[in-house]
Amino acid sequence: MPTDPVYDPVSPESHENPYPAYERLRDEFPLYYVEAHDVWALSRYADVKQGLRDWDLFSSAQGVELGTYVQFFGPGSIQELDPPHHDVLRKVLAPRFLNRRIKEYEGMVRSSARELIREFQGETEVDLARQFTQKLPILTIFRILGIPESDIPWTMQTGLEMLNRPPGESGPSPRAHELRSELVDYMVDQVQGRRGGDYPDDVFGDIAQAIDAGIMQVHEIQGLTLLLIAAGMETTTSLMGTIVHSLATGQVRREELRDIHGDLPAGAIDEFLRFDAPAQWLSRVTTRETEIHGVTLPVGSRVLMIFASANRDPREFDNADRLILTRDGSRNLAFGEGVHFCLGMPLARLEARAGMAELISAMPDFGLAGQPHRYPSHVIRGYENLLVTVRAS
Ligand code: HEM
Repeated sequence: MPTDPVYDPVSPESHENPYPAYERLRDEFPLYYVEAHDVWALSRYADVKQGLRDWDLFSSAQGVELGTYVQFFGPGSIQELDPPHHDVLRKVLAPRFLNRRIKEYEGMVRSSARELIREFQGETEVDLARQFTQKLPILTIFRILGIPESDIPWTMQTGLEMLNRPPGESGPSPRAHELRSELVDYMVDQVQGRRGGDYPDDVFGDIAQAIDAGIMQVHEIQGLTLLLIAAGMETTTSLMGTIVHSLATGQVRREELRDIHGDLPAGAIDEFLRFDAPAQWLSRVTTRETEIHGVTLPVGSRVLMIFASANRDPREFDNADRLILTRDGSRNLAFGEGVHFCLGMPLARLEARAGMAELISAMPDFGLAGQPHRYPSHVIRGYENLLVTVRAS
């Protein structure tokens, strides 16, 4: 074992650029013990994929983050439940998030994108992270949940502040806990107000119906709704930020980001996800003793599944450190694998395909104006600001 830590998931170095450490992990320490946090890390594609598939050995029931972020969302968060109860609650949400049903929201996603673009159109300098990529996913998920328009500004601000994670911190602040309680009270009121039949066509309505049918309990509203907000907001924001950044720096040309309908091609979206996974890693806890790479892990070991490292594994992808928009990167693990595979994938893809197409056609040319900063998070890799100068077309 090396004397200096090879990798620390919450260090400033990992926040800045974790990829050199991932390469060392994959090549030299495919199962690595991070002493500072008492966690193990899996970094190769085959190991992460296999681990995620084996939910019985690698359990989510003791939370999937680190430190006191574990189980922050509370009861009902399907991400932190194992089957069979996981499957029962996932089915409450699943029908609305199917690809076929999500396509019905395309008009809403496009008009939400245009609504945001109108607010800055005509300006010569725009922060596309704060004014677009951070707002579109929240607006979209809140509209699908059923949050009344008048409450969207407050819920948006509260949600964003609650999820703020300073680098080096492995736990939420007292303020984050306060905001969490405020949001939970609000969501519970929204669901309770929809109970008793005649359910509206929104997620709160779906949950109200499931409670009335005895499928889920009132105390599970908190975890299920907070998870949807967190999972729907930060990750998609981060994907779109990476795309905007690549355009603003000239790393990709806008012609590469248009299919025959003028939308972002699915393959390009896959490649951005592979290249810089929005959720870098999540963890599991072993339910029995197991041996990996010659090391015996005791029961109760927390193991990080580093999606972002798996996606750069040269054992799986040729030229893994290069962004190649024409490659087939669809087997990347950015949306996870197995029973917890991302429920929101069709929505995330819709937002990236249609929302970004709206932005690109409204802003024919822009370049980076200043150094962008990344989100103060150790799990989510995305941009907090992306100031651009708009060039005349
Ligand atoms: C680019 C955008 C997104 C990425 C990269 C992403 C990534 C992920 C990953 C890696 C997981 C697996 C978690 C685990 O194994 O523990 C997951 C689960 C989940 N995602 Fe996403 N996500 C995205 C967008 C969304 C959106 C837009 C929504 C919803 C509205 C959403 C809702 C969920 C939910 C509810 C789960 C938990 C599923 C379960 O435990 O059964 N995600 N996501």
